[in-house]
Amino acid sequence: MSELFKALVVDKTDNNFSVTIKNLSFDDLPAGDVLIRTAYSSINYKDGLASSPDGKIVRSYPFVPGIDLAGVVVSSQDPRFQEGDEVIATSYEIGVSHYGGYSEYARIPGDWIVPLPSGLSLKEAMAYGTAGFTAALSIQRLEENGLTPDLGKVLVTGATGGVGSLAVAMLAKRGYHVVASTGKEAEHDYLHNLGATEIISREEVYNGKIRALDKQLWAGAVDPVGGEYLASVLSKIQYNGAVAVSGLTAGGNVPTTVFPFILRGVSLLGIDSVYCPMEVRKELWNRMAADLKPSGLLETISQEATLEELPETLSLILKGQAKGRFVVTI
Ligand SMILES: NC(=O)c1ccc[n+]([C@@H]2O[C@H](COP(=O)([O-])OP(=O)(O)OC[C@H]3O[C@@H](n4cnc5c(N)ncnc54)[C@H](OP(=O)(O)O)[C@@H]3O)[C@@H](O)[C@H]2O)c1
Repeated sequence: MSELFKALVVDKTDNNFSVTIKNLSFDDLPAGDVLIRTAYSSINYKDGLASSPDGKIVRSYPFVPGIDLAGVVVSSQDPRFQEGDEVIATSYEIGVSHYGGYSEYARIPGDWIVPLPSGLSLKEAMAYGTAGFTAALSIQRLEENGLTPDLGKVLVTGATGGVGSLAVAMLAKRGYHVVASTGKEAEHDYLHNLGATEIISREEVYNGKIRALDKQLWAGAVDPVGGEYLASVLSKIQYNGAVAVSGLTAGGNVPTTVFPFILRGVSLLGIDSVYCPMEVRKELWNRMAADLKPSGLLETISQEATLEELPETLSLILKGQAKGRFVVTI
């Protein structure tokens, strides 16, 4: 094992912000029980923010971003993990206050690590990453709330994004009639290939006006977009339906009323991937390796990037121009 290894390091001083590949030593890594040789990481919206000067994600500099990683255990003080184990580590403080996945090696507390389920490769795990886990958790919560394919159509907002693409593909795999909302006219074929039954524009979800109650269109919705879109979606959900909200791409303020909740029994389900309890997390990764796993996870939904290509690729996601998922080979 060489003394030095490569990592993407972001640094911020009074006058300068930099994103560069540097050589780190093992002493640079934070405390943790398990040393992992990272095989793959991925790109999420949060990683875009962590790599930009005004992202307000990183707590102190210099820092290694990357909220997701998958790799092989090199050494472990945690009896649950042995040298050679294939593992996934996402969320918690990874890539926020604890050095993350954009590094050839990562040292991670054992409590944050999920064994790679059988039926999933390390690369597929990162094609999912936090975005895929969030989509899966959204679907699980909607189904726990009673959603089934026979109840009606299910809307996915931000459908070409990371969470959106995987939600479309997983819902289609489970037999739902999926309505995909997108701002990207050129990507309709992509969404049909993922399994979307209908494609609508963002304006058909929210056209600048929000009614307290509107025509009931959807039995459920996966919404990573938030803002006015969420308020508009809530007004169009069928009686007893639900919306799983995970994101704020369109903003954090939601100008809604109580009427969808008190007159139609609509439920708003909050989705948090970061501190999702470990038991739920492990079970869901197992489902993502089995009944939720869509075809085309590597071929259709994800593209590849190298550590060297990261600075350019990270900027795409902040501009809302990224499509699907990026797997980063480390
Ligand atoms: N709660 C959690 O645990 C959790 C986990 C992961 C992500 N998130 C959050 O979920 C959100 C989406 O993450 P992501 O990884 O899917 O990001 P993403 O890949 O950038 O996807 C977001 C999508 O939203 C649409 N969009 C972009 N700008 C928009 C705008 N101004 N108005 C309406 N729609 C817009 C675009 O899709 P179209 O062009 O197809 O419309 C875009 O591809 C982010 O806010 C992220 O922080 C939360």
